[in-house]
Amino acid sequence: MRGEGLGEGDDLSKQAADIKILGIETSCDETAVAIVENGTHILSKIISSQVELHARYGGVVPEIASRHHLLLINNLIDDALSEAKLALKDLQAIAVTHGPGLVGALLIGVATAKALAYAVRLPLIAVNHLQAHLYANYLNGAPQIYPAVILIVSGGHTELLLKNNPGESISLGCTRDDAAGEVYDKVARVLELGYPGGPLIEKLARQGNPEAIEFPRSWLDSDSPYDFSFSGLKTAVINHLYHSCQRSEEINLPDLAASFQEALVEVLVEKTTKAAAVHQAKLVMLAGGVSSNSYLRERLHAKLAGKLPETVLHSPPPELCTDNAAMIAAAAYPRYLAGDFAPLNLNAHPGLGIGL
Ligand code: KG4
Ligand code: ZN
Repeated sequence: MRGEGLGEGDDLSKQAADIKILGIETSCDETAVAIVENGTHILSKIISSQVELHARYGGVVPEIASRHHLLLINNLIDDALSEAKLALKDLQAIAVTHGPGLVGALLIGVATAKALAYAVRLPLIAVNHLQAHLYANYLNGAPQIYPAVILIVSGGHTELLLKNNPGESISLGCTRDDAAGEVYDKVARVLELGYPGGPLIEKLARQGNPEAIEFPRSWLDSDSPYDFSFSGLKTAVINHLYHSCQRSEEINLPDLAASFQEALVEVLVEKTTKAAAVHQAKLVMLAGGVSSNSYLRERLHAKLAGKLPETVLHSPPPELCTDNAAMIAAAAYPRYLAGDFAPLNLNAHPGLGIGL
């Protein structure tokens, strides 16, 4: 339904400012709705996290996630509208995450967005969740300067991107196995810390010595300098625990957490800095749940300040790093301007790649 809800031949790029887009995010265990104006200004942002529901299982249970999205989504849309003091008629589009994520969870958001778009005759915009993480930066004033290098680190993805201009993103490298957040979660599970693992390990690591245990860093071949591999690090942590137990040695959990985090963060920081240097980046941006980690932020900041003092480092506030709907509405804005609308038979795509 390209252009449905808009007059034939409308030139969206010439429309007046103040485009208000309602975004819906249900790809995993956060039910989220937000309204964003012109891709940068948050009018309302509602998140209902299911973390406590899933914590007892040590990870997200897809069926429970879908059921809770279904229970919550309509009320959250009402809440987002009233927080923004708007009615549906004040909106210009409905945006929704259509992948990647859990299929049942995605379908709740997609079906809701389609029904809403149809009922109020608004254009529907399908948003790639991974691309949307990057747009969280523009919600807190990231400068539009290029070349920019972006590190996306989430529960399902680790990717280095290069942007030479607003319309272009080039993938420099990605993980070959586990994503950074996935490794945090898996290590937290073997340490019996709880879920999600990232914030728990970060907290524990603050009391530990990052040099206590020398865990491996996977730099990979010289022909893939920007790819990542973290499964070896995960195995090394598990082996360390196993051997310590076998020898009845006491395990210093803060030291273990700090040493694990050091190994992972060092690889992220080194590869991001190298990409920024090689591509003469004027800007480095962080995105995704793991980028809320203050140790990663501090280390990257220090490294860039020492090696590339002219390069600006920008990261979203922690609440915009993890899953939210404001980033979905922000990512939809350039699509709205381009008239890039989704049909009403839009489906969920659980395995969607970053698709650049
Ligand atoms: O981006 P996100 O909210 O969801 C996905 O799209 O995957 O990322 C969730 C991931 C989880 O693996 C979680 O453990 C990790 O981000 N995470 C963190 C921190 N906060 C969340 N990892 C390290 N340090 C944190 N402070
Ligand atoms: Zn995410």
